[in-house]
Amino acid sequence: MYIVMVTPECAPVAKVGGLSDVVQGLAYELSIRGNAVEVILPKYDCMWYDRIWGLEKVFSDLWVPFHDQQIHCDVYFGFMEGVKCFFIDPHSDHNFFNRGQFYGENDDPQRFAFFSKAALEFMLQSGKHPDIIHCHDWQTALLPVLLYSQYWHRGMTHPRVCFTLHNLKHQGITGKFILRQVGLNPAEFVNQERLLDNFNPHAINLMKGGIVYSNFITTVSPNYAQEIQNSGFGYGLQHTLHVHGGKFGGVLNGIDYNMWNPEIDHTLPSHYSADSLDNKYVNKEALRNRLLLQHNYKPIISVVTRLDEQKGVGLIQHGIHYALAHGCQFVLLGTSPDPEINNQFLAIKHQLNNNPDCHLEISYNDELARLIYAGSDMMLVPSAFEPCGLSQMIALKYGTVPIVRSVGGLADTVFDADYSHRPYHERNGYCFQDLNNEGLESAMHRAIGLWYTYPQYFRELIQNGMRYDYSWNYPAVHYLNIFNYIKE
Ligand code: GLC
Repeated sequence: MYIVMVTPECAPVAKVGGLSDVVQGLAYELSIRGNAVEVILPKYDCMWYDRIWGLEKVFSDLWVPFHDQQIHCDVYFGFMEGVKCFFIDPHSDHNFFNRGQFYGENDDPQRFAFFSKAALEFMLQSGKHPDIIHCHDWQTALLPVLLYSQYWHRGMTHPRVCFTLHNLKHQGITGKFILRQVGLNPAEFVNQERLLDNFNPHAINLMKGGIVYSNFITTVSPNYAQEIQNSGFGYGLQHTLHVHGGKFGGVLNGIDYNMWNPEIDHTLPSHYSADSLDNKYVNKEALRNRLLLQHNYKPIISVVTRLDEQKGVGLIQHGIHYALAHGCQFVLLGTSPDPEINNQFLAIKHQLNNNPDCHLEISYNDELARLIYAGSDMMLVPSAFEPCGLSQMIALKYGTVPIVRSVGGLADTVFDADYSHRPYHERNGYCFQDLNNEGLESAMHRAIGLWYTYPQYFRELIQNGMRYDYSWNYPAVHYLNIFNYIKE
């Protein structure tokens, strides 16, 4: 099958959140299964260019109609971790992708509306007729709308569109003027059945447009698929998802075990697997040395995350104090685009400066992240909501017991040691429900208790988690089934 993924992010070169890892991991898995897979990204100035192999200009005559102009673009090609990628580079006064950041600009809806149109124009002009166009999040949601209302008439009758929702909190709610810019007549598209926002009568909702016009919509875990149809986690799109429920489902994300695997992770001081678990503790000692933590008989509880409200920052802060007061060491690696949140963590760091059991690192560093996954005993993921979550799956693979709030994809991947309905050998962590300190404490208390009182059971819990297969193996088959279904 010929699949083109159109996306605002792809690891490792354009990475803000988990979406980037998902696109890279899925694209790679689909291609090693014999499909022709290509990715289309904007050519951002702030990408990690040293991670692109063989970058060259391959197309210099792409003209994209936008508002009352024709915008000239160059298209580059390169490989990223074995994935083929085209990069669209527009030349205009808008300077769309040379802003020094991926998102956070006032004209984000316009920047990505342009990108969606340019991706289609590129496919048309270069004669690409993929079987499937796979779009990701609101940034590319206009693509199916444009495909069926403009490009179909220009001969692109073959491709079918799958649209994946990674986070309903961000929907691309914006002004109607965007439609005119991409050549769509507002009179035709601004109504309840199409792009009109369900709550703001003066706004359009790009994600809604993607849901209405795509041939299939997925989200990144089965449980989140339920939540966004039936609760406030749908952020106003519940009704739209019900109306289109016949072409909607949850597919659990995977992680790429070529990248996340303690048996081969070349950054680790010591490799290990479920059958050589003792070597994990060489990494624990290395982590302590690196962060100047005291060597003592205590578990290390860690957090590695983007410090976003979604991730439960208040509970993370409470977790630090609770862990230190209950015989644990605590390590955090994370940063926020919001300076206010960073300052809160810097204040706690300052307050705990002389505590030999604690280290907070308010930044991001891939190599340190890996040492933390490998060197800690437990990892906290107390999210307020979580479409899928990748860190708990990485933690499981690295033999670090996840302590999670049972929400979204966390509930699909972590099964409580005490209360799960699953058999013992399938239980792999600790879960809590209530989004408050007592909820968090109830799970931390049980996890810490097991570590101290029944170390052999704690070890079994670790091994249960390491034996799960959360690679792209199953999800890729699931996506291929969906692609085949809509292709017919
Ligand atoms: C978003 C979600 C996260 C998910 C990721 C990849 O970042 O917040 O839960 O794992 O997308 O789909």
